[in-house]
Amino acid sequence: MDHAALTPAVSAPTTDRTFAFLVHPRAAVAPDMGRVWRPLGHVPEGTWQWAMRHVPIPPLRLATVYRPGLPPSHDTGHADLSHADSSHAGSSHVDPGDVDPSRAHPEQAANRPLEVGPDPTHTLAGHVLVVPVGAKQLLAEPRRWVRGKIEEAIDQAERLGASIVGLGALTAPVTGAGRLLRPRPGVSFTTGNAYTALLTHEALHRLLPAARGGHVAVIGATGSVGSCVVRLLADEPVGGDLTLIAREPRRLETLAGEVRELNPALGVRTATDLAAARDADIVVVLTSATDALLRSEHLAPGAVVLDDTQPRNTDLALATERPDVLVVDGGVANVSGLEIHGDIGLPRGLAYACLCETMLMAFDEIPGDATGPADVAHARRLRTAARRFAHLGFHLADPALSFGRPVPWPGGVAPWPDGAAPSPTRSDAFSRATTTRLQPGTPTLPDRARARLGEAVA
Ligand SMILES: NC(=O)c1ccc[n+]([C@@H]2O[C@H](COP(=O)([O-])OP(=O)(O)OC[C@H]3O[C@@H](n4cnc5c(N)ncnc54)[C@H](OP(=O)(O)O)[C@@H]3O)[C@@H](O)[C@H]2O)c1
Repeated sequence: MDHAALTPAVSAPTTDRTFAFLVHPRAAVAPDMGRVWRPLGHVPEGTWQWAMRHVPIPPLRLATVYRPGLPPSHDTGHADLSHADSSHAGSSHVDPGDVDPSRAHPEQAANRPLEVGPDPTHTLAGHVLVVPVGAKQLLAEPRRWVRGKIEEAIDQAERLGASIVGLGALTAPVTGAGRLLRPRPGVSFTTGNAYTALLTHEALHRLLPAARGGHVAVIGATGSVGSCVVRLLADEPVGGDLTLIAREPRRLETLAGEVRELNPALGVRTATDLAAARDADIVVVLTSATDALLRSEHLAPGAVVLDDTQPRNTDLALATERPDVLVVDGGVANVSGLEIHGDIGLPRGLAYACLCETMLMAFDEIPGDATGPADVAHARRLRTAARRFAHLGFHLADPALSFGRPVPWPGGVAPWPDGAAPSPTRSDAFSRATTTRLQPGTPTLPDRARARLGEAVA
């Protein structure tokens, strides 16, 4: 059991916002449940599929996030960290109904005691909770039942004192990007999609040197993340041509019209067939399907793919079938200044962009909901917040990941977009290992990445 969040810590009150971030198991449920508590990973897949539908499994806690010291608004010294009790350090993380009743309502959050992490200089920032419904069930079961399960997780988030709830992976698309959720006084929601779009746009700039040209195809262009990426590309283009791909033609045409108006110099076209991606040099995948959509036959020789999807919508076989194609996992940020206790499925020091947006809204006290289609103005607001919290990370994972393995960005060192280079963050095993790989003379992408992919599948 994870007792860290119950640790009696210091007595001083705080008004900082605690967040909760919702995730769910992907198509294969057992391995993801095994991240919550290892024995759960041994339950047969069929049993999980049945149990999730027929047994009232409560939301589970996957991870707890701690941040160093107090947020800037609490630097007045009224918290006495010397009383911190770190006796629960090292405990594990399964925690079905593990809720402190004294924190039963969000209004009480303002007066609850500060909680410290296993490292007593870190205080509680938030929780990652698992909605116990697999990706396939999320999309296939009746929406009412699915939303009921998500609301149960939000109930638990409230009991844990969260005042902002992030909707991770498919919990956003199945709730109409949060718009179909029950409003709750004192709790705001975010899809995390605006910061995801912002990082995606930045990643496209960084991938350009590895591409043959500047033709970008966005698959899932009309979605919440996709439409924000497209609007950012209209404003700050990566190349001269843009192909927008989704299934519903009317929404595509409306978006294309908006882009033409914003930037008449861009060559914009639309398509409802993934085959249109074959003309592109860089393909961004922003669909919300349960498994692979993008396959080898959809890609031109030497194409670069940026795949933000969770669960992954690009075919794993690309790693073996297409050594000429570079696939980069998008929507992953460095947060090496934070302490994350629990296995969120990424190397230490990294987090998904949607989790980062939830944290940034909590840390920077950004008010209101960020639901519905991701908004460019909100994305830019988050860029400012990310700069303010750059000491904790909140920039593109560097090196990038390809099928979960580190690969350097083309050109090596990051050109931080607005001159605000992040300050160095706490090093860990992952960043030390990757720094070594990026010494001068290291081959740049795509050669290096392809070599690494070759190693990965060998
Ligand atoms: N890495 C991160 O931190 C992060 C953060 C946020 C989101 N994400 C991921 O990003 C993806 C998009 O999220 P979202 O909230 O923007 O989803 P969304 O609003 O549901 O949008 C999905 C888009 O994909 C299109 N689409 C869906 N199925 C398709 C198919 N079979 N063929 C072609 N197009 C298809 C949809 O349009 P049509 O219905 O017209 O086809 C729409 O344009 C999800 O996988 C999500 O998990 C990742």
